[in-house]
Amino acid sequence: MTDTPVPRKRLLIRTWGCQMNVYDSARMAELLAPLGYAPTEAVEEADMVILNTCHIREKATEKVFSDLGRLREAKKARGGDMVIAVAGCVAQAEGAEITARAPWVDIVLGPQSYHRLPEMVARAARAAGAVIETDFPPEDKFDHLPEARAPQGATAFLTVQEGCDKFCAFCVVPYTRGAEYSRPAAAVVAEAERLVALGAREITLLGQNVNAWHGEGPDGRAWTLGRLIRRLAEIEGLARIRYTTSHPRDMDADLIAAHAEVPALMPFLHLPVQSGSDRVLRLMNRGHTAADYLRLVERLRAARPDLALSTDIIAGHPGETAADHAATLALIREVGFAQAFSFKYSARPGTPAAAMAGQVEEATKEARLAEIQALLREQQTAFNRSRIGLVAEVLVTGPGRHPGQMAGRTPWLTPVHFDGPADLVGRLVPVRILAGHPHSLTGALLPPASAAARERPAA
Ligand code: 5AD
Ligand code: SF4
Repeated sequence: MTDTPVPRKRLLIRTWGCQMNVYDSARMAELLAPLGYAPTEAVEEADMVILNTCHIREKATEKVFSDLGRLREAKKARGGDMVIAVAGCVAQAEGAEITARAPWVDIVLGPQSYHRLPEMVARAARAAGAVIETDFPPEDKFDHLPEARAPQGATAFLTVQEGCDKFCAFCVVPYTRGAEYSRPAAAVVAEAERLVALGAREITLLGQNVNAWHGEGPDGRAWTLGRLIRRLAEIEGLARIRYTTSHPRDMDADLIAAHAEVPALMPFLHLPVQSGSDRVLRLMNRGHTAADYLRLVERLRAARPDLALSTDIIAGHPGETAADHAATLALIREVGFAQAFSFKYSARPGTPAAAMAGQVEEATKEARLAEIQALLREQQTAFNRSRIGLVAEVLVTGPGRHPGQMAGRTPWLTPVHFDGPADLVGRLVPVRILAGHPHSLTGALLPPASAAARERPAA
């Protein structure tokens, strides 16, 4: 007897927001593959569309509703033969509003419910209205998600922690992703080993508060992130480890020491500061001062002098004055960031900051953001130019923009382009940096054994 072939269906997943959503989208694709869903980029041929959404700022949320408007037309064009699912943090926070505003949506599922997707697809085929799943179910979704099976590229994400208990006044994450949860060390190590066996050379550990990760190690002791990183560094073939996103309050001494002691831990750290004003940091409920942050940066740079720092900044948080804004610019100048993300404050329903007095005018927010971004751009370009002349060890990730060109990443996470053969993908190669641009570098491939490949720049 032969197996009945699974019908070929097409799945389109659109992903917004953080890298955790990128990881979740990959897991959802793997979960649906056994039902016959293969990926597509073309909406016309999609039997199912999943929007994996972000609720962090209003703009991201509104994009979901405009996309849903377009999907309604695409579904009509297919005579209604299209399953539309909204996943992610907008689904979690606004499930009821989605079904009211967009009744053509078939499935609404929050970030903790992805393992239920196949069952929901079956239910949606029978149901008259939308199938909604936005409870925080007690069981651990990670226990129910399939293991990574798809061929991996040279770089992979691995979620180790989810949720957040910090309750920064401006942020919806504690409400959409729920309480802090750490995956057990053994599960993380097993997944990392699998990813490496599938070809990953670099793994980025993900979590909303990744450095709050903690768990019982195989030795029965309480592990924090630094210990986990040391264990992962023992995996044969894993050349690079990164982690994101971190809270300054959770940078413990062991994690800082890991930056000095673990060569595979890359000299790049995304460490959001949000503001340089103690008054605003207090209003934000960040639990640290500007001086605390600067001291932390000093300790990190003492541990790893070539550490490149990245951050997040919010312009125009409620209560922010011109003097507070000046303090933010001063902190940015003092640290010197290699990269950064900056945002206009966006009031999120249900967060304490949305109800605070002293909301800042839109035009003021815009002007402050423009100033912050100009300074950050200047610093990023200066950082990239400071690499010129160095020989960087580059992890080759794929083809570049032009024929014969390859793309990769430096230890400092900067994209770099250079001429080289296509079979370098997944390899670490020495590249001499020849030019620094605002967002990338260009360089020249050196012979494989260049001893200078491990050369480090002065801080
Ligand atoms: N408005 C603007 N930016 C925000 N972020 C989080 N919430 C808001 C908000 N309400 C930013 C923070 C955070 C990053 C992921 O998004 O800087 O670190
Ligand atoms: Fe949001 Fe603050 Fe938690 Fe980060 S630490 S996810 S900004 S509440």
